[in-house]
Amino acid sequence: MTARADDSRLSTVALPRRREAGTPYRIAVVCLGNICRSPIGEVVLSDKLDRAGLADEVEVVSAGTGDWHVGKPMDRRAAGVLAAHGYDPDHHRAKQFESSWFDGYDLILAMDAANLREISTLDPVEESTHEPGRLRMFRDFDPAAEDGDRDIPDPYFGGNEGFDSVLAMVERTASAIVESFVVRAEAR
Ligand code: 4NP
Repeated sequence: MTARADDSRLSTVALPRRREAGTPYRIAVVCLGNICRSPIGEVVLSDKLDRAGLADEVEVVSAGTGDWHVGKPMDRRAAGVLAAHGYDPDHHRAKQFESSWFDGYDLILAMDAANLREISTLDPVEESTHEPGRLRMFRDFDPAAEDGDRDIPDPYFGGNEGFDSVLAMVERTASAIVESFVVRAEAR
């Protein structure tokens, strides 16, 4: 089946090509501490891929640019909002993003512009030598994002409502990312 040019489900953001044929497509979701936003991104995106039957084809991990929380579970407020919406938050352990991930992942998604800048500084090679779009903002895929509104705001120093808002942005964006894989599979 070929995807139609007027298919309203088509994401306007193209997925970068897989680095290596025959391997799972690998996505890294990256924030600052890897205890709030990117773990929520990892859990929600993995859950939606699983429900779409794509768990074997697409792998998702998360990391932080900082090392303060390495080895720790996610923030209890992040775990709370995930559990309240039926997701399992209990397997997370924080990791730090490493330069080598530029070579090991097909798509690296930053939660805010500062994360994106920090990740860029860790790129071991010229950005232009990568597959176009390998590093971009998570919310580039958000169908409700406006120009200049691509950040998932850091909820760490705020209250619980910040985590509800992160989950809502992540859920609709993750659905759009999964849809991009479904449309791509149908077009093959
Ligand atoms: P995250 O939130 O980047 O969404 O995981 C933060 C977690 C911890 C800190 C900052 C942001 N911190 O400064 O420890």
